[in-house]
Amino acid sequence: MSFFARRLQEEGAMLAPMASFTDAPFRLQAERFGALWTVGEMVMSRSLLQGAPAAWELLRFDGEESARVVQLAGADPEEVAAAAELVARRVRPLAIDLNMGCPMPKVVSRGAGAALLDDPERAARMVAAVRRATGLPVSVKLRLGNRRQTIMEVAPALQEAGAELLRVHGRTASQRYGGRADWEKIAAVAALLRIPVVGSGDVRHPDDYRRGRALGLGVALARGALGRPWFFAEIRGVPVSAREKKEAALAHLRAHLNWYAHRGEARALRAFRGHLAGYLAVAGAPAAERRRALLGESAAGVAAVLERWVGASEAT
Ligand SMILES: Cc1cc2nc3c(=O)[nH]c(=O)nc-3n(C[C@H](O)[C@H](O)[C@H](O)COP(=O)(O)O)c2cc1C
Repeated sequence: MSFFARRLQEEGAMLAPMASFTDAPFRLQAERFGALWTVGEMVMSRSLLQGAPAAWELLRFDGEESARVVQLAGADPEEVAAAAELVARRVRPLAIDLNMGCPMPKVVSRGAGAALLDDPERAARMVAAVRRATGLPVSVKLRLGNRRQTIMEVAPALQEAGAELLRVHGRTASQRYGGRADWEKIAAVAALLRIPVVGSGDVRHPDDYRRGRALGLGVALARGALGRPWFFAEIRGVPVSAREKKEAALAHLRAHLNWYAHRGEARALRAFRGHLAGYLAVAGAPAAERRRALLGESAAGVAAVLERWVGASEAT
């Protein structure tokens, strides 16, 4: 049984990659609350091969992480395989995830991300090349298509090429984040395949998780876990107290400041703003308070804001 199939036997969800968010401190929070595995931010294969420090920085892992998967993007199968081979040797991830879903024009125009959905043959060659080069399990992130819905052609080709898991965001690339993710369509894809499929899109409530599982799918959390890493526990029916939430947010801030200490506190705090906005939105802090907090320039000030708001609307 594949690594992914084994993990999916457990109750719970995996953490989907989010650029600027799924760094080591946040991945560790997700793991602590029971994420089945986590995927780091997308990294361009060419930048890794060129030795770009910013690209390699995205692959830093914390020694405590136990479920680390690296996501690579690129257009050329041999180039992506060469980057994957380097990553496998230096970083030792559990698996390589290939991005075939990114809708950003600067990625798609280079033939990477969702552009691969228009070219099933090249997409399949990429999976086979990465498997050959690394010997690691390969998963693929895709959308229902790029401009058209091509997933029914692409998905079987990826399976035949050796992909062990597909993670499908239930929208086309041209839909971006508009409308609702189509989970029925994701289930229709899974019905064509032997390998497991994880659905992604709009999971905000434990009922959304249960609906995905009832369709026979694995479930990915992305935006629903921002400012709410304990959502991984809640979907499994594990209650998390207001105090535990507050402590988790403060622990996340401390780990984040440690992790980025080499950049200096001001930059590290700026990189936390997205998370802070998430915690305050989940806590229901008023907009004016949120705006003020995001201007905060001291670690003690940010900690005080988290202390005040996270879990505050719930009984302890
Ligand atoms: C800020 C942000 C960054 C993202 N970055 C990536 C990425 O690097 N790689 C990827 O495969 N998906 C990325 N995604 C897509 C998510 O993994 C997920 O499929 C999508 O947000 C839909 O799920 P959700 O509605 O639960 O957020 C990103 C999404 C967001 C909001």
